[in-house]
Amino acid sequence: MRDISMILKSVWKSLFVFSAISVIAVSTVNAQDAKEGRTLFKAKCSSCHALDHKVVGPALTGVSDRHPEAFLLKWIPNNAAMIAAGDPAAVKLFNDNGKVAMTTFPELDEAKVKDILAYIKEGEPKPTGDAALSAAPKEDKTSGLSIAGIVAIVVLAIVILVILGRASKLLERLILQKQGIEIEEDVPLKVGVRKMFKNKKFVMFFILCLIICLGSFGWMGMWNTGVHTGYQPVQPIKFSHELHAGINQIDCQYCHSGAFKSKNASIPSLNVCMNCHKAVQARDKYDGEISPEIKKIYNALGYDPETQKYDESKAKPMEWVRVHNLPDFAYFNHSQHVVVAEDAIRKAKGLQPNEPVCFACHGPVNTMEEIYQYSPLTMKWCINCHKETDISGQKNNAFYAKVIEAHEKIKKGEKITPALLGGLECGKCHY
Ligand code: HEC
Ligand code: HEC
Ligand code: HEC
Ligand code: HEC
Ligand code: HEC
Ligand code: HEC
Repeated sequence: MRDISMILKSVWKSLFVFSAISVIAVSTVNAQDAKEGRTLFKAKCSSCHALDHKVVGPALTGVSDRHPEAFLLKWIPNNAAMIAAGDPAAVKLFNDNGKVAMTTFPELDEAKVKDILAYIKEGEPKPTGDAALSAAPKEDKTSGLSIAGIVAIVVLAIVILVILGRASKLLERLILQKQGIEIEEDVPLKVGVRKMFKNKKFVMFFILCLIICLGSFGWMGMWNTGVHTGYQPVQPIKFSHELHAGINQIDCQYCHSGAFKSKNASIPSLNVCMNCHKAVQARDKYDGEISPEIKKIYNALGYDPETQKYDESKAKPMEWVRVHNLPDFAYFNHSQHVVVAEDAIRKAKGLQPNEPVCFACHGPVNTMEEIYQYSPLTMKWCINCHKETDISGQKNNAFYAKVIEAHEKIKKGEKITPALLGGLECGKCHY
């Protein structure tokens, strides 16, 4: 009799520890993210793979059933190494597909590969009517998920505790009955719950859970204040980067030439759109009518497609909603990052030659139906990249040539002026 309640007590204790640990674990581990996986897939894999039909490589739906996860976690980042090492499954896969080599992806770590696999498993998200088109700002999914996870585990733990408590009572009662000892009547549930809250251990556990929940909620809240990752406002025209920069492969420079020459990337004027949209009217999609979205361009310019004439008096500026916005006191210069730092950033972020350097900060824009803020744009984000990016390969760059010259002069004890360090460049003093 004694033994049984001892055993139950220790079960109770380990359960308590287990729930506490899982609560903490869930709050730190992010769930796999099929959405992130889709983005990576579109950027890196879609040139050779589709989910449901063969492109260059096989259709990938159900690939997790065809291979163990350990195989895929190795294959996707570096299939060449597996084939070279003579892994039988890898060699067979290679031979069965006409010995066409798949690209290696050293930049994909395990978490990213798991994201991609999660996307392959879930498939293309189904658009739900207007909701998919309209631009509800994306929430920070990971914090939402882990909070939901914590709450679920706490509820589950309480339910298990209650059931175990009841079971232990029942067992004890059965044993007492067998030994022929009188027992008092069962307590009703309400009294049971009241009793439970009188149990110090339970109350401690309950309070601990509450503190962890509220604590992590507050913590995440604090870190996300002023961070707009995923910000996706509704734009006046449904302009799709996926359609223009992705499917139609229009260079970023065509519309955002400012990024290569100046601080601001700048949004193109509608006249740039007219280079194509005078002729491109997407009539086949609208029963021969001009697309209502393209009509918005015409209206804003006061352009009449019948007469092909502009009426300046009807023109009004297009009010795009700005997505990325640093506070005024932070100075960020595009050309410095896009031109001067291009090679260094490409290498640091593992971009493919066909991907514009913009992807390092703005994400795979060519897959964005509507543009959203991909990076947090926090100071920590800038600083981390400045700490990690190796710029030692920039020796032939005029900027570094000056730095090297200055160091040589300092070594020799010669005179150097701020002018040598770029102190005469307009941008150093003027915004
Ligand atoms: C250059 C084209 C190319 C790219 C890009 C590419 N793959 Fe492949 N992939 C292949 C080919 C070809 C095969 C078939 C095996 C072989 O011939 O090496 C393959 C095979 C696979 C397999 C095994 C499929 C099966 O049915 O067993 C998986 C999984 C896979 N690729 C995932 C990916 C992922 C994920 C990416 C993006 C990160 C990617 N691939 C990018 C060409 C490519
Ligand atoms: C055909 C013209 C066109 C091309 C090509 C194009 N863009 Fe854009 N881009 C726009 C327009 C118009 C906007 C403003 C509307 C919007 O936000 O969707 C915009 C907005 C953006 C924004 C958000 C600006 C903000 O408000 O913060 C980013 C970032 C961006 N583009 C990056 C890119 C990158 C990277 C490429 C190349 C892969 C690219 N764009 C190609 C026209 C273009
Ligand atoms: C090193 C990171 C980084 C790279 C690389 C980068 N951007 Fe940006 N981009 C930013 C930041 C930060 C902002 C916000 C700037 C601000 O608010 O002053 C921004 C803002 C923008 C904007 C809107 C505001 C503006 O400046 O007009 C556009 C459009 C844009 N980027 C396009 C591009 C394009 C196109 C490329 C590639 C040619 C590119 N960016 C490369 C970080 C980057
Ligand atoms: C280099 C050519 C080119 C430029 C520049 C260009 N577009 Fe497009 N745009 C296209 C093509 C091609 C399509 C696809 C038309 C179709 O689906 O038949 C398209 C489609 C569209 C659509 C979707 C129409 C619909 O209802 O399906 C919109 C909206 C649009 N463009 C807006 C813009 C805006 C705004 C700009 C300027 C910032 C712009 N485009 C610049 C080539 C261009
Ligand atoms: C993707 C990596 C990356 C990110 C993100 C990034 N930078 Fe940079 N930044 C660089 C590199 C690389 C250089 C060196 C460029 C060169 O070679 O001159 C640089 C240079 C600079 C410089 C010039 C430093 C000097 O000595 O003249 C400034 C200012 C700057 N960045 C501001 C920012 C700000 C502000 C942000 C965040 C909004 C930011 N950067 C985000 C990579 C990055
Ligand atoms: C060392 C810092 C510095 C550099 C480098 C510099 N400027 Fe200036 N600039 C100033 C200051 C300070 C003023 C304001 C002086 C005043 O108000 O009397 C100014 C004023 C101006 C004005 C007059 C603005 C007005 O409203 O009257 C112009 C135009 C100008 N600068 C252009 C340039 C150009 C172009 C370059 C590059 C060739 C440049 N500056 C380089 C510091 C600088």
